[in-house]
Amino acid sequence: TDTPSSLITIFGATGDLAKRKLYPSLYHLFRKGKISEQFAVIGVGRRDWSNEEFQEHVRTSVHNALGSQENIEGFVSHFYYQQNDLSNSDSYQAQKQLSEELDEHYQLEGNRIFYLAMAPEFFGTITEDLKTQGLTDTKGFQRLVIEKPFGHDLPSAEQLNSHIRESFSEDQIYRIDHYLGKEMVQNIEVIRFANAMFEPLWNNRYISNIQVTSSEELGVEERGRYYEKSGALRDMVQNHMLQMVALLAMEPPIKLTTEEIRSEKVRVLRALRPFKQDEVKDYFVRGQYGPGTSKGQTVVGYREAENVDDYSNTETFVAGKLMIDNFRWAGVPFYIRTGKRMAAKSTKIVIQFKDIPMNLYYNTDKPLAPNLLVIHIQPEEGITLHLNVKKSGQNIETTPVKLNFANNSVDGMNTPEAYEKLLHDCMRGDATNFTHWDEVKLSWAFVDKISEVWEKTRDEQFPNYESGSMGPKAADNLLAKDGYYWWPIA
Ligand code: BG6
Repeated sequence: TDTPSSLITIFGATGDLAKRKLYPSLYHLFRKGKISEQFAVIGVGRRDWSNEEFQEHVRTSVHNALGSQENIEGFVSHFYYQQNDLSNSDSYQAQKQLSEELDEHYQLEGNRIFYLAMAPEFFGTITEDLKTQGLTDTKGFQRLVIEKPFGHDLPSAEQLNSHIRESFSEDQIYRIDHYLGKEMVQNIEVIRFANAMFEPLWNNRYISNIQVTSSEELGVEERGRYYEKSGALRDMVQNHMLQMVALLAMEPPIKLTTEEIRSEKVRVLRALRPFKQDEVKDYFVRGQYGPGTSKGQTVVGYREAENVDDYSNTETFVAGKLMIDNFRWAGVPFYIRTGKRMAAKSTKIVIQFKDIPMNLYYNTDKPLAPNLLVIHIQPEEGITLHLNVKKSGQNIETTPVKLNFANNSVDGMNTPEAYEKLLHDCMRGDATNFTHWDEVKLSWAFVDKISEVWEKTRDEQFPNYESGSMGPKAADNLLAKDGYYWWPIA
């Protein structure tokens, strides 16, 4: 294996993320031989669990997620539990001792990964305690993996960042954006930079607009408390949506190194057109779902969900138009939309090419269909190219066809899930698919301009879209103003 040995300490070990994603991902890496015998996991949690109880939890989590159990005992034997209520340094001393024992026992060479999979209010103090209690004082590497949300706006993100930076340097910090671990998100770069037929056209001379949709069928579920303070703008746009835009719009990096790729992405974010408060409405629209039908079931509206205010002004849907004011993209709108309780669970990117200069085939009453390149991120993974060909028969008439490439992603064991790839990257010290502070900072600065306006003004139309629909009418108008419409995602 090319993966260095390491001790992985997971804060929030009894929580939802660890159970759904982290343990199954580690198990995959173990089964594939990507992590060897030289690893150990310390689960940290508030509950008073024994190692056996923790191991049983991990076993169940793997079983529920994957159904598979092969060599599960070998796997769970690497898991240890440490109770830590985070309020006193004694529990850190016990944790330090356990870490040293495991370091010795598994020959981990002092390599340590600290994974914060828990409520963000503790991010700062945990990192501080790790340092002052000496847990980061080893001869190997120390890395910090940190889940979202990374702050609530720019000032809080800055505060959090400087707190963390007292204990970890920027190159030791791995900020998770799980979209960057998705196979087809990683493919954006390859499609662009490994194909002679796309990159020469990838600019404002040939592309008319780009549409990025990430829709969900689920509602807010049990996350009302978090979501009321977040909304779709902070939950999805600040991170996942802007990251996809950056990958679509960036210049070819000089090399495929972490620094080069990140600096190109940063340049895109720097080029995002800022707007004044009274211009926000021309670029961004918000929505909130009301009752409706989802997967054949009648469902309640957002305001009826648990821990949600009866008069909530929180948006569960955002559509926006981004302008990237640089030479390549001047004049090309990037439309984004994301929301909960929409018609389908789907993430797709549509690149719409400009119409050709003249239509020789205007023999029907229909104009030629534009060429589209569709990148399917999920649930299907693949790309589709929409072209025009001759309709069979005597007349010269055209008909649109689709060239399809489907990435065979159905085999759960072979195509790694986002978290599996990201964990492995972190163990190998590759931070390319994690967000640099500069990206986080610029994304917040952009998003804050919108939330400032939205927080000040109640949307009296809320709820303004039905569960199971594709969002409010205003999202369609946003494109119609420019002469476009959302391409259907189905
Ligand atoms: C998370 C958001 O970051 O992404 C969730 O907090 C959202 O609200 C999720 O449901 C969507 O991720 P995916 O991978 O299912 O598209």
